[in-house]
Amino acid sequence: MKIHPFDAPLGAEITGINLTDDLDISTIKALNEAWAEYIVLCIRSQNLTPREFLKVGRIFGEPFEQLYGQFNLPEFPDVGVLTHMDGDTAGSGKRKIRGTSWHTDASYFEHPPAGTMLFAVNVPSDGGDTDFMSTRAAYNALSENMKKRIDGLNAVHVYESSRSPRRLIKRTEDQVKKFGDQFVHPIARTHPVHGEKSIYLNPIRVEKIDGMDNTESDALIDKLHDHLFQPRFHYRHKWQIGDFLIWDNRQALHQANDDYDWKTQERKLYRIMTKGERPI
Ligand SMILES: [Fe+2]
Repeated sequence: MKIHPFDAPLGAEITGINLTDDLDISTIKALNEAWAEYIVLCIRSQNLTPREFLKVGRIFGEPFEQLYGQFNLPEFPDVGVLTHMDGDTAGSGKRKIRGTSWHTDASYFEHPPAGTMLFAVNVPSDGGDTDFMSTRAAYNALSENMKKRIDGLNAVHVYESSRSPRRLIKRTEDQVKKFGDQFVHPIARTHPVHGEKSIYLNPIRVEKIDGMDNTESDALIDKLHDHLFQPRFHYRHKWQIGDFLIWDNRQALHQANDDYDWKTQERKLYRIMTKGERPI
């Protein structure tokens, strides 16, 4: 197994392994260490059935229950499907590519998913990339004053923030009851593996800073968002069929792109998330 870091603030390609082989403990350990270090790992030219994808997913943790039953594979409910055919369930009835604004997955949970994995079944010949942002690099680039200012501050993560640039999928009453609606997490989040900090905000879900008046809270969130959205923290992944990709939701934001011709081009990815710890 070889690690090839991308020429970017995050991400590495792993070569020399076939994920369907029985990997030994030292390889699994090395993969998990590389995941913590590089945040995004890509292993190309894999050929995975949903069952195999689920087995591979366990290299990185236990499956986290997918949130929207309507998008899951019926025979493997821990595997979600992202496709160019998804409809807008927020009510317009129009087709809509999901995930097209910066976010980290399910941060309104007490224990948000540590990782998310995608397997590229089919991808457009052009467009449909996924963007990533290193919130660890962004934290490290903060001034010492700002690091001190956010130390000990917590953000209120809700299902759908009034700041969200897009309307989110409407949930059923059962889903709201089952998955909850909000949780408060530290803004400077410490990673459980290497102990480094990242900025744990989520533009579609963070409503305010806990205990701070709204004007001050809005100003500070705006300032941190402006800092985050700098090209120097970004990596853009161009998909190939057979790509297995995992990212770390604890130290990255991500977004999909709907800039391809969905009438002639198919984009189909399987998704698994892994359980995570409560952010500290
Ligand atoms: Fe996502």
